[in-house]
Amino acid sequence: MIRMEHVSRVLHGEVPVTLVDDVSLQIERGEFVCVMGPSGSGKSSLLYLLGLLDVPSSGTIWVDGQDTTGLDDDALGDFRLSRLGYVFQFHFLLQEFSVLDNVALPIRKLGRLTDEAARARASDLLDQFGLTGQHHKRPSQLSGGQRQRVAIARAMANEPLVILADEPTGNLDSVASANVRDMLRQLTRETNRSVVAVTHDASFASVADRRIGIVDGRIDMSWRPDGLA
Ligand SMILES: Nc1ncnc2c1ncn2[C@@H]1O[C@H](COP(=O)(O)OP(=O)(O)OP(=O)(O)O)[C@@H](O)[C@H]1O
Ligand SMILES: [Mg+2]
Repeated sequence: MIRMEHVSRVLHGEVPVTLVDDVSLQIERGEFVCVMGPSGSGKSSLLYLLGLLDVPSSGTIWVDGQDTTGLDDDALGDFRLSRLGYVFQFHFLLQEFSVLDNVALPIRKLGRLTDEAARARASDLLDQFGLTGQHHKRPSQLSGGQRQRVAIARAMANEPLVILADEPTGNLDSVASANVRDMLRQLTRETNRSVVAVTHDASFASVADRRIGIVDGRIDMSWRPDGLA
């Protein structure tokens, strides 16, 4: 689904800073992969590269078999909208829109469905993620866990191949965290999409198919968080 080979990301300031250092990895269809590591080790930087939100300084990233090197901003934007979905620690829902419109927005933007069909799909997704009866509320009227489920529904809007999540349970209590974790886990099993999630949460990581440790911008498979064997 996503493959990266010898990818590095260097910030060229007065003193160059290497955020990601020669990382090669492959995400398979239907896989639930957790990225873990100490604070500041480059996990978010790696996720932005995987999600085509940032561009490598060197190396190659393929998404859905296509080499993304050298694509311009428009082409990358199309790729992101049609093939990838994102969930962040802070939900980034638009407060001035209803929950339903937040989920319908990326569907309308892609422009493959009529407005009516976009709303119907958004409505189905919200029901699927346990948000029946919440469609016409504003994000501010929901709990943190509900908002994060709206964010997952929105990430699913255009049937992405891969969902990239950066600490999706970082702001949630343990019950809401387990709920979000189980929804993402179930999604990979039932729809054969892949999830790549950065997390500090050992219970979240315990359900992953694979855990990738990142230390100092490099893959370190010996790295283990506290509380995980
Ligand atoms: N725009 C930037 N300018 C300078 N340094 C940066 C920039 N973005 C990130 N960094 C540095 O790069 C390193 C990796 O950052 P990154 O956010 O990827 O880490 P992380 O593993 O996600 O950390 P956390 O667990 O705290 O979220 C950190 O040392 C950070 O300070
Ligand atoms: Mg981070």
